Amino acid sequence: MEQQLEVFIPSREVHLKIQEIARDISREYRGKRLILVCILKGAVVFLADLMRNLSIPVTIDFISVSSYGYAARSSGKVRLIKDLDLDIAGEHVLLVEDIIDTGITLKFLLQLLESRGPASLKVCTLLDKVERREVSLTPDYTGFVIPDHFVVGYGLDYGESYRYLPDICIVNPG
Ligand code: IMP
Ligand code: MG
Repeated sequence: MEQQLEVFIPSREVHLKIQEIARDISREYRGKRLILVCILKGAVVFLADLMRNLSIPVTIDFISVSSYGYAARSSGKVRLIKDLDLDIAGEHVLLVEDIIDTGITLKFLLQLLESRGPASLKVCTLLDKVERREVSLTPDYTGFVIPDHFVVGYGLDYGESYRYLPDICIVNPG
């Protein structure tokens, strides 16, 4: 099936926003050891740009969960696919996410990682569809609050397509 794509947030706006977020994160974690935890696969592009805009040293790790499969709607079930390599006990951890929708994925991850005793655990998301929230959850750093559109590009996919696009685009099934 062919989809129509429409640019929603151009890459230059994404990059300006990331510079702002990176300044805030650098200020908050200066002098501390910080682990950025990237939620695969969607947050990969965001992580790559975010960490290169920080003015503090960080380490990175990756975690992967599945909640959607190939569907555009959440199934509400979250499964751990790939765990962290690092031990986060006593460490400052910042979860890096592409988009928060119902909040179910992040809630699951926050509970899982909290149980390992990090020194702190916070959330940084590029996009937030606040109006779709089903569980209470407020990210500590947010790029853009967006309305209920299905978006792709800049790491985000629709059935594994479009992650490579530099702009964030809205998908309209054609
Ligand atoms: P939640 O558990 O409903 O908050 O879903 C979060 C996950 O769903 C994100 O990590 C994305 O992988 C995926 N997702 C939610 N909305 C979109 C979207 O508009 N485009 C692409 N992926 C999305
Ligand atoms: Mg996804």
